[in-house]
Amino acid sequence: MPNISNKGKNMPESPIRKLVPYAEAAIKKGRIIYQLNIGQPDIKTPQAALDAVKTNDIEVLSYSHSAGFESYRTKLAAYYKRNDIPVNADEIIVTTGGSEALMFAMGSITDPGDEVIIPEPFYANYNGFATASGVNIVPIKSSIENNFALPPISDFEALISDKTKAIILCNPGNPTGYLYTKEEIEQLAEIALKHDLFIVADEVYREFAYDGVKHHSIMSIPKLAQNAIMVDSVSKRYSMCGARIGCLVSKNQEVMKTAMKFAQARLSPPTFAQIASEAALDTPQEYFDEVIEEYTSRRNLLIEGLEKIEGVKVAKPKGAFYCIAELPIENADVFAQWLLEEFEMNNETIMVAPAAGFYSTPNTGLNQVRIAYVLKKENLIRAIEILGAALKQYNK
Ligand SMILES: Cc1ncc(COP(=O)(O)O)c(C=O)c1O
Repeated sequence: MPNISNKGKNMPESPIRKLVPYAEAAIKKGRIIYQLNIGQPDIKTPQAALDAVKTNDIEVLSYSHSAGFESYRTKLAAYYKRNDIPVNADEIIVTTGGSEALMFAMGSITDPGDEVIIPEPFYANYNGFATASGVNIVPIKSSIENNFALPPISDFEALISDKTKAIILCNPGNPTGYLYTKEEIEQLAEIALKHDLFIVADEVYREFAYDGVKHHSIMSIPKLAQNAIMVDSVSKRYSMCGARIGCLVSKNQEVMKTAMKFAQARLSPPTFAQIASEAALDTPQEYFDEVIEEYTSRRNLLIEGLEKIEGVKVAKPKGAFYCIAELPIENADVFAQWLLEEFEMNNETIMVAPAAGFYSTPNTGLNQVRIAYVLKKENLIRAIEILGAALKQYNK
């Protein structure tokens, strides 16, 4: 048989999705599973976005411009300006999800063997995108003990080598829920400028900032214009994960020209989904106010519930809709599988994402899980009860 590529063999499995076969087997047995493992919100997609697809009269479902509809990019630019992100339509490339924007960014600024510095734990698929581009991730550790705050700037500088091309930042953070302060963003900008690095900021959770704390975009720092690249998505903002629309944003024309070549190679982003995403931009502020209120109360309920379970340590998220919980176990992979294969409480169980896959440092986060608070409150309460009972039984 012909050989598979080494790159392919080295691609990591998604820690979020790898337990799916066990979950499917449990469901076949009739088990009810509370899915805390995946960031699939249960929030309703704005009606205007759904209607725009239902009521349009397209006769030919054609390709669009490789950078996406101009009308959509123009409206997106207005949305960004309202969010202190001064960009124009030609500084935006619409992509097939934020995922594709991350791949375009990696492809445009790195060569095989280059390094990118990323605060860990980080969004697990960064590992996959880096592997696909032959890029090495140099992790900088943040820890649950200090709520996953950014490590001192001197730690970043110690990691910069002549291979370093970029710092990648997820703000607000998945899986930590950490929201970077204005000072932290400004300090990172200084390092990027001093060492001539790109900062790729994944801001797909921009709207999900709690307790009245404001999100600060990397794009709001004028002197960073040539170094800053932003990744965005409609997936979480409008609960439109299945639309598969995101975008890559930068004021650096060389970056955009290069990213366009990647965009042309895949022809165009999906047409119907762009129609829905353009309509979604008219979503009134009340929608977000309600959603933020809902996530805030889910977060509070989850954190309070987890803190009550003996031996569980958790950092309070300030944004996004995830938290990392440290459990009184040795190996979260084994525990997560056991939850699906062996445990049940009144025929119910939970699915969590083992956190080791969110680190690139080996043997780190082994006793941690990522929990997404994307379930209704009554289901979240039940899921926490199940976790408490499961830990008791597991450790008996
Ligand atoms: C931090 C982060 N970035 C990017 C993505 C990719 O999102 P999508 O491709 O659905 O836009 C996700 C999805 O969960 C995410 O959590």
